[in-house]
Amino acid sequence: MANTDERAAYLARARGLKLPRGFVLGAATSAYQIEGAPRADGKGESIWDRFVRQPGAIIDGTTGDVACDHYHRWPEDLALMKTMGLDAYRFSLAWTRIQPDGAGAVNARGIAFYDRLIDALLEAGIAPHVTLYHWDLPQALQDKGGWYSRDTSERLADYAAIAAGAFGDRVRNWVTINEPWTFCWSGHADGEDAPGFRDGVRGGVAASHHALLGHGMAVPRIRAGAKGAEVGVVFDLNCVEPASDSDADRAAATRFDGAQNRWFLDAVFKGAYPADMQDLYAGLLPEIAPGDAEIIAAPVDFLGVNIYRRSVMQAGTTWPPLNFDRVSPPGAYTATNYEIWPRCIYDILHYVRRNYGPGAIWITESGMALDGEVVAADGQVHDPVRAGYYIDHLAEVERARAEGVPVKGYFAWTLTDNFEWAYGYRAGFGITHVDFATQERTIKLSGHVLAEIARTRVG
Ligand code: FCB
Repeated sequence: MANTDERAAYLARARGLKLPRGFVLGAATSAYQIEGAPRADGKGESIWDRFVRQPGAIIDGTTGDVACDHYHRWPEDLALMKTMGLDAYRFSLAWTRIQPDGAGAVNARGIAFYDRLIDALLEAGIAPHVTLYHWDLPQALQDKGGWYSRDTSERLADYAAIAAGAFGDRVRNWVTINEPWTFCWSGHADGEDAPGFRDGVRGGVAASHHALLGHGMAVPRIRAGAKGAEVGVVFDLNCVEPASDSDADRAAATRFDGAQNRWFLDAVFKGAYPADMQDLYAGLLPEIAPGDAEIIAAPVDFLGVNIYRRSVMQAGTTWPPLNFDRVSPPGAYTATNYEIWPRCIYDILHYVRRNYGPGAIWITESGMALDGEVVAADGQVHDPVRAGYYIDHLAEVERARAEGVPVKGYFAWTLTDNFEWAYGYRAGFGITHVDFATQERTIKLSGHVLAEIARTRVG
């Protein structure tokens, strides 16, 4: 298909969606992945600043030292959002800009950076959705035990109070922590992410308990500082299916669902870890103090769902005693090897509503990676696969919404290509292309498609 026909065809499909006008469309980012400027204006060192320097930690040997240079170029990034007509922007605060050592002294220059960003967003009519913790723990706290220590939970709560006090007059939507499953397990069970520990299930579970505790302690502190705030938590959920009907595969799928989904959801929405998982983890659990379950179950206003894939599981050997193995069904896959399976977002919305009934749900991240994208001779970035991905996923979200699931909005991951953790710059998830040699931004076809979806909402 000629490029102009391609563009016209996708824009027409976008117009066909007709989402309701009140359904919020935005883009999401996180501090370490875009900001760069790791030492600017008094910022302290985070575990990611340190981890990327470990030989072999990042596939392409890169770091987030410059990333998208968003710390200096944020007005350009804001302009992109304006161009695309987005309603909301989900971003995270770098804890180490605000409290360089993760405790005690507040760094006014760090606060001032986010003040400028928030004020400009509001002026542009774009709602700021703030995430407090997107994986970049202050190294000073890591040195004292990090997420293996209850003290880190308390520190997160103090930091939440500082942030709510500083920005709560302007920011309505607050997320405590992003994807505890990922940062706890990839950081502490298999070491793919910072701080890089390979402590297996014991590590993942211990970190998870303290992360959830930190979340629960942070909720009332945000409410105290930010009057009228909507406070929630973001989990990365998977639709889990057994690879076969065999008892062994079904049990493996149940265990995986228990580890990734139910452990976190039950704790927050049911006030207890799931009994089957407590049994499975017997002997591997950290100390759980009386009252912890109640703290973790502090009422939230919404659940944020990051959804990237379905997981088809068979009995296996990963992370004993979880003992699962992932199966990859035939089909289309992204550059991070995630199956493209739009129905997953519909299934997960119903799963969450059926089992937990949160008052509101946001899709806080959804998107896909491609490798080696370039600006073509016509000046455009052609990512029809991603454009189709957004159309198909939003159609599934709308189907669930029309059936009564209280999903309020959708954030594309991500605004610009950025530093994708252990993948470095090899997995571009952006709706905007970044030429990292020049920092030039080019909105991709998928970005234009999202703009068209936003513009043609109805009602
Ligand atoms: C999620 C993370 C986000 C980004 C996407 C691709 O797990 O929250 O930072 O890396 O995956």
